[in-house]
Amino acid sequence: MADGIRLERVSFGYNGTQVFDELTLQVPGSMGTAVIGANGSGKSTLLGLIAGTLRPQSGSIDVRNPEGIALAVQHNQVSETFPITVAEAVAMGRWRSLGLWRRASNADRAIVDYWIAAFDLDDLRRRRLGSLSGGQRQRTLLAQTFAQESPIVLLDEPTVGLDAESRERLRFHVDRLARAGTTVVAATHDVELAGRFDLCVLLGGGRVLATGTPSDVLTESNLAAALTLG
Ligand SMILES: Nc1ncnc2c1ncn2[C@@H]1O[C@H](COP(=O)(O)OP(=O)(O)OP(=O)(O)O)[C@@H](O)[C@H]1O
Ligand SMILES: [Mg+2]
Repeated sequence: MADGIRLERVSFGYNGTQVFDELTLQVPGSMGTAVIGANGSGKSTLLGLIAGTLRPQSGSIDVRNPEGIALAVQHNQVSETFPITVAEAVAMGRWRSLGLWRRASNADRAIVDYWIAAFDLDDLRRRRLGSLSGGQRQRTLLAQTFAQESPIVLLDEPTVGLDAESRERLRFHVDRLARAGTTVVAATHDVELAGRFDLCVLLGGGRVLATGTPSDVLTESNLAAALTLG
C-alpha cells in the first residue's frame, strides 16, 4: 500500500462491548474522508485504532506513516483545567518534530503563528485554556493539531462548538491540506461538513454501511438506515 490507510478484518471491543467485528475499510491517501454514523457507532473508536491509541483484538491496520499521525480528540476527552495558554497549547503541536532538547526554530514559530491566525486566536494567545469558551477551546485544539503538519490528520467531531465562520475556516483548511497531499479523516455528525469531503464512510451496527462520494453515501435512505442500526 503506497498511500492511505487500510483496515483488514479488524475486530475491537471495550470490556463487554463489541464495536467492530472483522471491519475492512480502505481510506485513500491525499484526500479528505468523512466518517459519519449515529452516536455509539464507533467513529471515535475507528480514529483511535488508526491513530494507534487503541489496539485491535485481531486483524491488521496498515498506515503508511504511523509516526506521522495527528489526532484531534473529541471535545469531551480534553482536560479543561490544563494550566497553559492558547499560544503554548498550539506550540505543543510542534513538540514531536522538535525532539526532546531542540529549541523551537523560527520556522516552528512561523507555523505556530500561522495556525493561531488561521483559527482567529491572535487576541486569545495569552489566555488560559480553562478561561475559554467551548468554541474557542475547540479552535485551539484544531490549531494545535494542524500545527503538527502531519501527513495524516484525524479530527474527531471537529465542528462541535464552532460558529459558522469557524466552520468555514476549518473547511477551507481541510480542503487546502487534502489538495496538498495530506490525508484527512474526520468523524462527524455534521452532514453538511461531510458533504464537502472527497469521500464518506457511513458506519452502523459495527459495519461499513456505505462508502463513496458524498452524493452516493449521504442519501436519505442510507442515513435512516444508519440511525436505525446505531
Ligand atoms: N472507554 C470505553 N469503555 C467502554 N465502552 C466504550 C468506551 N468508549 C466507547 N465505548 C462504547 O463503544 C461504542 C462506540 O463508541 P464510540 O465513542 O466509538 O462512538 P462514536 O460513533 O464516536 O459516538 P459519538 O457520536 O457519541 O461520538 C459505544 O457503544 C460506546 O458506548
Ligand atoms: Mg465519538
